[in-house]
Amino acid sequence: MKEVLCVLFFVLVSVSYAKVTKPNTDNFLRCLRSRTSPEYPITEAIYTPDNSIFLTSYLSYAKNKRCSDPNNTNLIAIIAAKHESHVQATVVCAKSNGVQIRTRSGGHDLDGLSYVSSIPFVVLDMHNLRSITVDVRSKKAWVQAGAIMGELYTKIAEKSKKLAFPAGICPTVGAGGHISGGGYGNLIRKHGLSVDHVVDAQLVDVNGKILNRSSMGEDLFWAIRGGGGASFGVILSYTINLVEIPKTITVFKVNKTLEQGATDVLYKWQLVSSKLPRELFLRAMPDLKIGAKPGDKTIAVKFYAQFLGSSEKLMKIINKNLPELGLKREDCYEMSWLNTTMFWMNYPVGAPTSILLDRPSAPPGQFYKGKSDYVKKPIPKEGMEKIWRTMLKFNNVWMQWNPYGGVMDKIPANATAFPHRKGNLFKIQYFALWTDANATDANLGLMRELYGVAEPYVSSNPREAFLNYRDVDVGSNPSGETNVEEAMIYGSKYFVGNLKRLMDVKAKCDPDNFFRYEQSIHPLLAM
Ligand SMILES: Cc1cc2nc3c(=O)[nH]c(=O)nc-3n(C[C@H](O)[C@H](O)[C@H](O)COP(=O)(O)OP(=O)(O)OC[C@H]3O[C@@H](n4cnc5c(N)ncnc54)[C@H](O)[C@@H]3O)c2cc1C
Ligand SMILES: *[C@@H]1O[C@H](CO)[C@@H](O)[C@H](O)[C@H]1NC(C)=O
Ligand SMILES: *[C@@H]1O[C@H](CO)[C@@H](O)[C@H](O)[C@H]1NC(C)=O
Ligand SMILES: *[C@@H]1O[C@H](CO)[C@@H](O)[C@H](O)[C@H]1NC(C)=O
Ligand SMILES: *[C@@H]1O[C@H](CO)[C@@H](O)[C@H](O)[C@H]1NC(C)=O
Ligand SMILES: *[C@@H]1O[C@H](CO)[C@@H](O)[C@H](O)[C@H]1NC(C)=O
Ligand SMILES: *[C@@H]1O[C@H](CO)[C@@H](O)[C@H](O)[C@H]1NC(C)=O
Repeated sequence: MKEVLCVLFFVLVSVSYAKVTKPNTDNFLRCLRSRTSPEYPITEAIYTPDNSIFLTSYLSYAKNKRCSDPNNTNLIAIIAAKHESHVQATVVCAKSNGVQIRTRSGGHDLDGLSYVSSIPFVVLDMHNLRSITVDVRSKKAWVQAGAIMGELYTKIAEKSKKLAFPAGICPTVGAGGHISGGGYGNLIRKHGLSVDHVVDAQLVDVNGKILNRSSMGEDLFWAIRGGGGASFGVILSYTINLVEIPKTITVFKVNKTLEQGATDVLYKWQLVSSKLPRELFLRAMPDLKIGAKPGDKTIAVKFYAQFLGSSEKLMKIINKNLPELGLKREDCYEMSWLNTTMFWMNYPVGAPTSILLDRPSAPPGQFYKGKSDYVKKPIPKEGMEKIWRTMLKFNNVWMQWNPYGGVMDKIPANATAFPHRKGNLFKIQYFALWTDANATDANLGLMRELYGVAEPYVSSNPREAFLNYRDVDVGSNPSGETNVEEAMIYGSKYFVGNLKRLMDVKAKCDPDNFFRYEQSIHPLLAM
């Protein structure tokens, strides 16, 4: 804590401003051409506003309609890199021409920070760099940043029914953002996070050089496993270890409304979910349920389970630890790991797994806002009831309560840059969704209210937050400048005790703070 205060003191006198001069776009584009070989022509990768598909290209990976700005006059070009050299050139030329970079892989940033800026910028779009190779013998895979999780899962399952990768549920999430920010999913209690299985990485640094684990060094390699990639460079690819899973996995979905005693069941869930065998991940999802009549609303808590074993064994575990759920044998489905990824997305059992390869390119019609919290002691029933009352004010909102424990209690908080490990019962994700632009202010206000209502029951000093659930409300800077005090505020929430080392690494690999954005890590300078 002392260290933090000490840095804060230094900070107050050192607000740094970027030179926001209008960059010379022609010079930037000329630089790109001069820095790349005709063998890999960069022209085909450049989209400027005069290009007829500029807007489509921008919008196809701008997943949150709340954040995408089709009239963004600050966006001077999209570089949809087709070769590593295009990434290198973009970094070098952006730096020499005073242009900011927003690197975008899958475009799922909840606050759109991979595709917006209030000063001139380019989007370095990685979606063309999406190769995946899987080696069953060594149980390793190599995945480029622009691949999406659904592609990775499919490739792994094609090669082996006994291997998997611990990562998120949403198949369209990009490897670049997802893995560098931590990456968690329903294997977390048995196998931890995506970053716990990264064994090498390729990154383009601030000088345009391609580094791997040995040439970047262990500090930087540590930082890009949970610290987010965008503060440190551009991640080209990760080498990952795959984990062994049984051929048969059991899943179920059961729900309870408030009228059916959801609050009591969920209270009991808080006591047991982080202590269950680590083969079992039992998520609780308080969701708004709208009835037939107007104003007829309640909360239904949906319980989703993923169990690395048979339904028979799962029934025994649930009946012993959470009989209140009233789980029936017919609620359980045994299936392959790949099929479970479909089940978690609510696709009907038997739907073709080719859906996992879809990259929907239409501009999204959905506006959303997410937030996160970590919970270290059970939320009392009165607290839960306050939360329900606030949720009932929305038209579409849900929470995910994601249990911790298992291996998460065993991995030290400083093993990777991702700090939220031992001592958490569960992590909350808050998520509000709407489709009418007019409803934005009301939803953002309600989200802040919900976050306020939850405050007494969640982690504090700092109130921890999950980087992958990007939330600019926890602190952020204007696009072109860094107020270090502000950077310490969001930094300590995202990185807790790992912040100082992250700032150290940043100071070594990007001392001039070129890779800066609204929530980037600030280089720790004179101390
Ligand atoms: C519908 C949905 C479901 C989700 N489910 C989960 C889940 O189950 N588990 C979980 O952990 N998270 C989940 N997330 C959060 C998700 O992991 C993060 O939003 C993640 O950052 C997305 O990565 P991306 O590449 O798609 O995003 P982008 O928007 O492309 O990037 C996100 C951030 O990473 C940076 N970045 C992207 N690519 C690179 C790169 N190659 N090099 C350096 N920096 C880069 C961007 O600049 C930005 O700061 C979900 C998000 C959504 C919208
Ligand atoms: C902004 O974009 C929309 C369509 O995306 C267009 O209808 C509108 O005219 C644009 N506004 C300005 C000010 O350019
Ligand atoms: C890492 O990069 C160095 C220098 O380019 C190279 O010699 C080495 O073989 C690379 N290591 C791996 C594992 O690719
Ligand atoms: C709860 O489960 C039942 C039965 O599976 C289903 O019909 C209902 O739609 C579910 N409710 C919610 C809110 O998902
Ligand atoms: C997985 O789903 C497919 C449908 O896409 C189905 O044909 C197959 O039998 C399922 N396999 C398992 C093991 O669940
Ligand atoms: C993590 O912290 C422990 C003590 O708190 C220390 O011994 C260890 O070296 C640290 N590990 C890393 C990777 O920094
Ligand atoms: C949103 O507000 C505008 C201006 O008040 C109004 O014209 C429009 O109909 C509203 N849209 C919807 C979907 O309610």
